Amino acid sequence: MTGRLNSTSDSSAGGAHKDGAKNCNVALIGFGTVGSSVAKILCERANTHLRLTHVLNRNVARKKVDWLPSSVQWTENIDDVLSSDVDVVVEVMGGLQPTEDWIRRALAAGKSVVTANKQLIARCGPELTGLARRMNQQIQFGASVAGGVPVISGLHEGLAGDELFKIQGILNGTCNYILSQIEANGVPFATALREAQKLGFAEADPTEDIDGLDARAKLAILARVGLHCNVRPESIVARSISAIDSVDFEYANQLGCTIRQISWAELRGDELFAAVQPALVELSSPLSRVEGSRNLVMATGTYGGETVFGGHGAGGHPTAVAVVSDILAIARSRQTGTSYAGQPPEKNPTVTSDYTAKHYLRFLVKDRPGIIASLSTILAHCGINIDAVVQKPGCPKSHLPFLITLEECKASLVEQALQQIDKLDFLVHPCLHLPII
Ligand SMILES: NC(=O)c1ccc[n+]([C@@H]2O[C@H](COP(=O)([O-])OP(=O)(O)OC[C@H]3O[C@@H](n4cnc5c(N)ncnc54)[C@H](OP(=O)(O)O)[C@@H]3O)[C@@H](O)[C@H]2O)c1
Repeated sequence: MTGRLNSTSDSSAGGAHKDGAKNCNVALIGFGTVGSSVAKILCERANTHLRLTHVLNRNVARKKVDWLPSSVQWTENIDDVLSSDVDVVVEVMGGLQPTEDWIRRALAAGKSVVTANKQLIARCGPELTGLARRMNQQIQFGASVAGGVPVISGLHEGLAGDELFKIQGILNGTCNYILSQIEANGVPFATALREAQKLGFAEADPTEDIDGLDARAKLAILARVGLHCNVRPESIVARSISAIDSVDFEYANQLGCTIRQISWAELRGDELFAAVQPALVELSSPLSRVEGSRNLVMATGTYGGETVFGGHGAGGHPTAVAVVSDILAIARSRQTGTSYAGQPPEKNPTVTSDYTAKHYLRFLVKDRPGIIASLSTILAHCGINIDAVVQKPGCPKSHLPFLITLEECKASLVEQALQQIDKLDFLVHPCLHLPII
């Protein structure tokens, strides 16, 4: 492949594009899945003012490709980037250190930063944004949530005129792929996970995805951008999808629902409800129709109602599109001299995961008379009303799955009842408790 980047920019190194606008010099930190896709887009899309000047990676010799212009400097040394005339440093190497340190040094050296690093932005986004402002630079992180879906810019700019109070989304493609596979093929969780790993949708160690830690970092970022709430990711409850079985999809379907990993942040007065958990979602909801590794975010505002953003939540090219869009936004604001618009003041709400909803309780029991009576006694004692009891016919008595749905009540009340229920000797596994939203 021939790099067309040369044709628009090599002759005008550090100077002006042919239409008179100033070139914007870009350094890539990390030449992996996303970094190489960013380079490809910069290389193939002519007529932008963006000019790739540096690529940094450890052991860089093995990373070199012949399709980038010879003017690009390949390096392992961050000082080569920081001491150069680079305008925008693009961090796509991931991790917390030395990444945070390098981003701080880039901002302090008068360079703007684009990053796809959700864990870093979830933890230190406000401080890095503050540093960028003090240095009269920018830090953009559009690719850190939902990959190629322009949800950060959509919340930050497109919906800035509304007063958003709720964000719900499917933010982890790995979990969505696994749940979709269990639903479509009736396979156990472990089989769906293995398949996802084979196809590259899940990491060798999938804990971050399966246990909701990846999604809660993204939810913390969305809560900050959309709801203007300072939330630490650790303060958001995250529950695993690993207990979901194909029988749960059968029961969910009987209730007119499916099951998805839902990230949910809702502002109610001084409280922010925030959680990442598997939940039953009505089949009429856009959330129920998200298949495979796609992402979807629904934002609800006081004035504009519900807005839905959807698309490819990961992958080199979709994520690189978000990165390049951020670089272009910075380049544009450098041309016009505008940067941050005024921001509403940040709120510091109390974070809770104690939602009020209908509930789905799935039991796996050794069958014997009196099971429903024991369960309903405990639930009644806790002030919880049963809505329905559903049992699939033809299951073995030694592993009998059945379902109890509960009328609307607080999750903490159900958890209190489950502490007693989980001690009952007829249970084969602890009860699976999901909200119905
Ligand atoms: N991939 C996606 O779909 C996606 C989607 C959204 C956001 N992101 C985010 O984008 C970032 C990059 O993801 P990726 O999938 O492109 O990762 P990747 O394929 O592992 O690429 C990371 C690159 O950075 C290099 N690197 C790592 N640590 C380094 C260090 N200390 N010094 C120098 N180079 C270093 C790696 O070199 P080696 O070759 O030696 O490992 C690799 O080339 C991450 O923050 C990720 O969370 C990714």
